[in-house]
Amino acid sequence: AALAPHAGPLAGKHILVTAGPTHEPIDPVRYIANRSSGKQGFEIAGALAELGARVTLVAGPVALPTPLLVDRVDVETAREMAAAVDAALPADAAVMVAAVADWRPVDVARQKLKKGDVLPPLAVAENPDILAALARSAGRPRLVVGFAAETERVVEHATAKRARKGADWIVANDVSGDVMGGDANTIHLVTAHGVENWEKLPKADVARRLAQRIADAL
Ligand code: CTP
Ligand code: CA
Repeated sequence: AALAPHAGPLAGKHILVTAGPTHEPIDPVRYIANRSSGKQGFEIAGALAELGARVTLVAGPVALPTPLLVDRVDVETAREMAAAVDAALPADAAVMVAAVADWRPVDVARQKLKKGDVLPPLAVAENPDILAALARSAGRPRLVVGFAAETERVVEHATAKRARKGADWIVANDVSGDVMGGDANTIHLVTAHGVENWEKLPKADVARRLAQRIADAL
């Protein structure tokens, strides 16, 4: 290739990115999931690679092409995502953008449930918190960045999440408008030093600004 891979301020760094939703099967054709296009996470993976990082992108089910020079691992469920994150370590930084389903059905029906069936109540179990586990693990990346999509009291929720999960930064995304699946985000970056309010930006610009901040921090 004519491109020179892995040159730039993040050369020699390995960065793990999670993106997209997870799907938690109910039966062979149905699942529980969060709404997520994966666009912001894929943009971040691409922006980090452009700054020279070796990037492992652990992706839930999304309809997006792999960014240039990014190593992609496709997963379906939260438990598969957790295992793929573990397998990708060690990393210098982790950026957890995935909208992981908080619950999974306890039993997966082997056959498709039919419309006329009398359904038992859906029993669910809580999924592992991939970010919280990584932030508290022995192999913790030096910089752990979480995301928080919030519809109200955005900075307050994000600040609490940062402490609860043991993340260094939380990128809080105000999703009270029509951002879901859209191409722009309004970000508040919550760190140990306080809160930065970013103007509404295209997702590609959010990704470039965040990648530059990560390069400065590493
Ligand atoms: N996250 C994760 N594993 C989970 C749930 C969340 O790694 N099982 C990560 C997300 O990728 C994101 C951050 O944690 O970086 C915040 O996710 P969010 O859903 O906002 O946090 P929750 O603790 O699940 O809180 P909420 O009740 O608001 O859903
Ligand atoms: Ca959640």
